[in-house]
Amino acid sequence: MKRVLLIIGGGIAAYKSLDLVRRLRERGYAVRVVLTQAAQSFVTPLTAGALTNERVFTDLFDLDDEREIGHIRLSRETDLIVIAPATADLLAKMAGGHANDLATAVLLATDKPVLAAPAMNPRMWLHPATRRNVDQLQRDGIHFVGPNSGEMAERGEAGPGRMAEPLEIVASIERVMAISQPGAHGQTPQKGDPNLHAATLAGRHVLVTSGPTHEPLDPVRYIANRSSGKQGHAIAAAAARRGARVTLVSGPVAIPDPEGVTTVHVETADEMLKAVEAALPADIGIFAAAVADWRVASAATEKIKKDPRSRAPALALVENPDILRTIAGAGAARPGLLIGFAAETQNVVEHAKKKRKSKGADWIVANDVSPATDVMGGDRNTIHLVTETGLEDWPQMDKHEVADRLIERAARHLEKFREL
Ligand code: CTP
Repeated sequence: MKRVLLIIGGGIAAYKSLDLVRRLRERGYAVRVVLTQAAQSFVTPLTAGALTNERVFTDLFDLDDEREIGHIRLSRETDLIVIAPATADLLAKMAGGHANDLATAVLLATDKPVLAAPAMNPRMWLHPATRRNVDQLQRDGIHFVGPNSGEMAERGEAGPGRMAEPLEIVASIERVMAISQPGAHGQTPQKGDPNLHAATLAGRHVLVTSGPTHEPLDPVRYIANRSSGKQGHAIAAAAARRGARVTLVSGPVAIPDPEGVTTVHVETADEMLKAVEAALPADIGIFAAAVADWRVASAATEKIKKDPRSRAPALALVENPDILRTIAGAGAARPGLLIGFAAETQNVVEHAKKKRKSKGADWIVANDVSPATDVMGGDRNTIHLVTETGLEDWPQMDKHEVADRLIERAARHLEKFREL
């Protein structure tokens, strides 16, 4: 039986962690819960205990606990530790190596994989201190799921900070467990692993965008496009296999988060831009998302109703921010290698060359997406890579092969850069 130690932090999202317990138990996991002191304002030990069928652990200095089962045993007698919600305060303590309560002592003592599901106000998530802490924790090998973007519990607050949904956390737990098995495919290199140094992108941060964006018309309708996210997700996975720390900012897609990658889920172009900015700095930026060029000037807050007396509503559109161009102009924050995509239906290479210049990208991965090619949503892709020095025409390949080749190419480029 797989064992999960769930640390519940003090945040409004703590109620969702009880659902997470239920979902894990349904799947046959044994779950033990540690509640921080702040968490006890949101969830009682009694409720958590009833759901886990186990005693709930709350206090480092409970002598009985120390005799029966101390923080060392708690941290070892599990296959994985999940922190949900991971508050800004808990992340800060972890990044600083604090151990002044049971939760942080367990986290410092463990040799097991740790998955954090952050939840906090968007401004707290975007604060430089939290950025720094998350960056440090990712370097320390902590896995992350979310936070997602959207409405917050506080009225009128929106942005990245919503805890990932329980089923998303379950999926991440399963992925982290799979890659943490010795010899597992796509294993994340651990500290001291000799492969870490052999891997071409070890120590690098790769930021990838993927999928479409959804631009709301009203609460139930949206403008979208046919992007599946397959290419962007394959690129993120390929970079992770090369040992990079990878952040994937994904629009709504029907495919799973790649293994060993921190995936941030967003819906709109605005949210995607914010999430990308929050993930910087990065050594390589690969923007494969099919970002909607326009959004509705003001999305209706209530469902738009049909009115037999008037005509169909006219949609006033405004342009979305161009994420690639914005990041290309971000000065010191611009990734050293910035790669854009050009989805074209005619004059593919010519348009791609223009796009490289006008957007300020280093390379453009151009592909023909005219309906006959079946690229949009399909599994294969024919690429023309436009770089600062010329053009490479690649044969038609599987999207995973395209991803591997692009990552290989990018890794070699950075190596060369380092040697100069
Ligand atoms: N892109 C972006 N933000 C946008 C639009 C596009 O970051 N608002 C990025 C895409 O991720 C891609 C590149 O820009 O890497 C080119 O996308 P594409 O849709 O081909 O170009 P557009 O700018 O939309 O140009 P057009 O539709 O006129 O061809």
